[in-house]
Amino acid sequence: MCGIVAYIGNQEAYPILIKGLRRLEYRGYDSAGICLLGENLNIYKCKGKVSDLETFAKGKDIVGTIGIGHTRWATHGEPNDLNAHPHYSGNEKLAIIHNGIIENYDSLKKELIQRGHEFKSDTDTEVLIHLIEDVQENENLPLAEAVRVALTQVVGAYAIAVLDKSDTNVIIGAKKGSPMVVGIGKDEFFLASDATPIVEYTKEVVYLEDEQIVELRRGQGVKVRSIENEVLTPYIHELEMHLETLEKGGYEHFMLKEIFEQPKSIADSMRGRYHIDSGTVSLGGIIDYEQKMANAKRIIIVACGTSWHAGLVGEYLIEDLARIPVEVEYASEFRYRNPIIGEDDVVIAISQSGETADTLAALELAKSKGATIIGVCNVVGSTISRITDAGSYTHAGPEIGVASTKAFTSQVTVLFLMAMRLAHKRGSIPESRFQQLLAALEKIPAKVEEALQSADLVKYIAGQYKDAHNFLYLGRGYNFPVALEGALKLKEISYIHAEGYPAAEMKHGPIALIDEEMPVVVIATKKGSYDKVISNIQEVKARKGKIIAVVTKGDTTAAELADHVLEIPETEEELVPILASIPLQLLSYYIAVMRGCNVDQPRNLAKSVTVE
Ligand code: M6R
Repeated sequence: MCGIVAYIGNQEAYPILIKGLRRLEYRGYDSAGICLLGENLNIYKCKGKVSDLETFAKGKDIVGTIGIGHTRWATHGEPNDLNAHPHYSGNEKLAIIHNGIIENYDSLKKELIQRGHEFKSDTDTEVLIHLIEDVQENENLPLAEAVRVALTQVVGAYAIAVLDKSDTNVIIGAKKGSPMVVGIGKDEFFLASDATPIVEYTKEVVYLEDEQIVELRRGQGVKVRSIENEVLTPYIHELEMHLETLEKGGYEHFMLKEIFEQPKSIADSMRGRYHIDSGTVSLGGIIDYEQKMANAKRIIIVACGTSWHAGLVGEYLIEDLARIPVEVEYASEFRYRNPIIGEDDVVIAISQSGETADTLAALELAKSKGATIIGVCNVVGSTISRITDAGSYTHAGPEIGVASTKAFTSQVTVLFLMAMRLAHKRGSIPESRFQQLLAALEKIPAKVEEALQSADLVKYIAGQYKDAHNFLYLGRGYNFPVALEGALKLKEISYIHAEGYPAAEMKHGPIALIDEEMPVVVIATKKGSYDKVISNIQEVKARKGKIIAVVTKGDTTAAELADHVLEIPETEEELVPILASIPLQLLSYYIAVMRGCNVDQPRNLAKSVTVE
C-alpha cells in the first residue's frame, strides 16, 4: 500500500527519493509523486509507475536537499494525476504525503469549505494539509505544533511527512496506525514506510509509535513528541537488513528469486531453534510465554490471505501434536464479530509484513479482552511484532514480490516448531515420534532444493494450461490449506479464476464445473488420506477433467491416473505443506509470466495492506 519516503541532509534529495520510491514499489501503487524544497516548493506527480514520474520530472527544477516522495495505492478518489500525492495546502506553502485513511475527512472538509478552503482532489490527504494550514494560520503556530494540533482532530490512520516552504530546514513526520521509520545518518535524516529505502544509507533507525510526531531538523537530533505534547526519548535500533536482499540478484522477477531462496529462508527460520544433539526444540522469543501457551484453554490464530492459510496448517499442527484446541479466523471478521475471548486464550497473529491493518486490529481487540497475544512476523520491528506480548520472527528475509512464497513456507516452519515445542512441554507426543519429526525437519531445506528441480517440468505444464479460464485445487488434511494457497497464488498473479477446496467437498458442488476444459490440481501425497484422494482423482477423471497431481516421489498409482505428475520428496505428513507448495508456486509463476502479467506487482494488489 502507499509508500512514503523523505530526506533532509547535504545530498541532493531527488535521486534518493526516486531510489527510495523504487524500493517501495513492491508495496503496490498506482501513482507516484515527489516534492522538493529548494527555492520553491515543487511538486511533480502522475498516475503510473515511478519511471513515469521520472519522465515527467525530466528537465524540471529538481534541486533541493530536502524532499518527500510517495507511491499511492488509491483509496479516496480514483488513481489519477490530481489525486496522486504530494498535496499542497491551499496557500501552496505546505506539502504533505500520507499513508492511511482519515475517516472523518468528510466532516473536516465541510468545515474547511465553510471557512473558505477550496479543494482540487478527491483525497482525504488534501483535507489534512488544509487542516494543518488552517491551524497554522489561525493559531500562528510553528509547523510541528500545527501538525500536532491538527492531528488531535483527526480520526483514522496516518503516516505523514510535511514540508513548509518558509522553513527549509525541517521535515515533520507523524504516525498512527500506518508504519513509519526514521533513519539517522551523518548530518542527514530519512523517513520511510519501512526500512527498504533507508538501509543503503544507515543502519540506525527509530520506529515511531502511534500518535508520535517527529521533527527532523538540520543540525539537531531526532525530536519525538506525543500527540499530547509530551517530549519522548527515541530508542535507536540497529537494522538487520542487508541491501542485496532487496535486489533481484540475476533473476527475472523477485517472485522467482524468492521461490528459489526457500532452501535458505527455511533453514534461517529453523536456525538455532531445533537441536538434534539434545533432541529438543526451543523458541527464544516465546520462552516466557510458553507455559501460558501450553496451558491455554484455546488458541486462536488470526491472519489474512496467505498468512491465514499458514494459520490453517498451524491449526492442524498444534491440534495434532500439542492437543490444544485451535480456531483460525480471518482477522477482518474476527475484529468486527464480537468474539468471545478470555484471559485463558492465546491469540497468535501471523503476518509477513507485521503491518496488516485487520490483523493488527484483531490483536488489539484480543489484548483489550485480556488474552495473551503472540506474533509470527517476518518484518523485524514491524508494528505487530512490537505490540505482541511475545513472538517468533520467521527470518525469511525481505519478501518483495507481492505474492507471498518464502514467507508462507517460513511461517509453516515456525508454526511447526511452535507445535513441537508445545507438544514437548505438554507431553502430548511420544518421544520417538518427536525425534522422528525433528529428524525430518532437519532434511527439509535439502528436500525443498530437490522439489525446485521440477521447475522445467512445471514450466512445460504451465505452457499447456496458460489459457485456461478456471482452475480447481484439491487437497485433504494438511494438503487442504496447500490447495487454498495454490489457488490464491494463481489467481493473484495470473488473473485466472482459481478455487481451492477440500477434495471431499468437491461432490457437494464444484464437481458440476468439471469438464475437459477444467484443469484440476490435486495434492495427492502419500500418507494421510491418500487412498481417498485417489478416489477423488478418479471422480475428476470420469468427468474428463485434466489432472495435475502433486505426488510423493516414486508414486505410480496417482501417476497412472493423472495427466501430469509433479513429484516432491517423501517426508512426514506434518511437513508436506512446505514441499507441496513449491511446485504450486512455480506453476502460478510460469503461467503468469506466459500470460504477460506483472508478476511482482499484480494489478490492484498491495504487499502491505495497511488499510482495512
Ligand atoms: O503481511 P501479511 O502476511 O499480514 O499479509 C496478508 C495478506 O495480505 C497476504 O498474505 C496476501 O494474501 C498475499 N498477497 C498473498 O500472496
